[in-house]
Amino acid sequence: MKQKILVTGGAGYIGSHTAVELIERGYEVVIIDDLSNSEERVIDGIEAITGTRPDLAVFDICDEAKLELFFQGHPDVAAIIHFAASKAVGESVSKPLHYYRNNIVSLVNLLEVLPTTQAKGLVFSSSCTIYGQPDVLPVTEHAPVKKALSPYGNTKQICEEILQDAVTSGVDYRTIALRYFNPIGAHPSAEIGELPRGVPNNLVPFITQTGAGIREKISIFGDDYDTPDGTCVRDYIHVVDLAKAHVIATERILSGKSSEKYEYFNLGTGKGSSVKEIVEAFEKVSGKELNKTYAPRRPGDVEAVYADTSYANDELGWKSELELGDMIASAWKWEKKIRGIDS
Ligand code: NAD
Ligand code: WQD
Repeated sequence: MKQKILVTGGAGYIGSHTAVELIERGYEVVIIDDLSNSEERVIDGIEAITGTRPDLAVFDICDEAKLELFFQGHPDVAAIIHFAASKAVGESVSKPLHYYRNNIVSLVNLLEVLPTTQAKGLVFSSSCTIYGQPDVLPVTEHAPVKKALSPYGNTKQICEEILQDAVTSGVDYRTIALRYFNPIGAHPSAEIGELPRGVPNNLVPFITQTGAGIREKISIFGDDYDTPDGTCVRDYIHVVDLAKAHVIATERILSGKSSEKYEYFNLGTGKGSSVKEIVEAFEKVSGKELNKTYAPRRPGDVEAVYADTSYANDELGWKSELELGDMIASAWKWEKKIRGIDS
């Protein structure tokens, strides 16, 4: 019989790609998503790729009673991957309490119900944002966690502490926090991808929307950083590579193989790319020249951050495989598909 994995936030960007990889590895996937930042048609996309339609339960995980009821119907969940959270850094500054409630209460609810289920543990979506501007690059998991620059970033730090404290209390389950660098791209089929609401904050959706003619121009925030070309450097990682790492982390929990009950890993490629390089990569892949302009630095941006991935490579046996060209090409294919652009 197939093992059942609960994917919270499975209708979202990273969750939907992970659902595909889990199904393709032979797992049964059940999704909880309140569709606050996603749409039900994402489930159609997962079905189109895999031939299997995961169950979707639409409710807010902060609702403890509904969560308990869910587990009564699914007592056989073997592990949980917890993606559900609010993720817009800027919005978290204007709505901090919403972020603290949604991101922290959802995790606490899951950890409280976990011991009453058969689940062996939980994989958590963390972020490189917890490192702030690291003193040493590439950044390893030993780098200090810096004071968060936003309520969103703070929720990730607090959630990691909650995971650690929870397992220290002697419970039976295991937890793994995965610290994502900058996930971009879409499934190569273009059946699923990122669906930002309104004006995108993130670089790549803004670029692809500019390429599609939805935005007039792309502003490059800052060209006077202490980096090779003056623009900020990030570690962009293909969402499919990221999704595969979640399957491996889940299997680590299922097998009880992890050395500690709480573990954390960097998920990146280990390679930094500048904003300028990303714009150029898009122009090369799409054959379109973008209308671009330089703008002042964006408040809160760190200058450069990229991962030391050796711990994830060695311990998880995982390595990112897809190149920047694959990331941009898949993001562009997806953008064209959702905008009905032919060539
Ligand atoms: P997303 O918004 O596309 O997906 C999150 C999903 O969770 C959405 O479908 C949303 O409707 C759902 N959701 C939110 N709150 C919920 C709740 N209380 N109950 C039920 N469903 C809820 O975001 P994503 O980019 O897929 O990110 C997934 C996770 O990864 C988040 O925890 C995010 O903070 C983290 N993360 C994302 C990035 C990134 O750049 N995308 C980077 C680092 C970490
Ligand atoms: C990348 C670079 C911008 C838009 C954010 C969160 C982080 C994580 C991933 C969740 C920066 C520049 C951007 C534009 C630009 N999310 N840029 N013009 O800021 O590295 O990370 O998403 O955990 O927590 O902070 O990603 O894609 O917004 O920006 O020049 O129109 O692109 O200044 O240097 P960021 P991003």
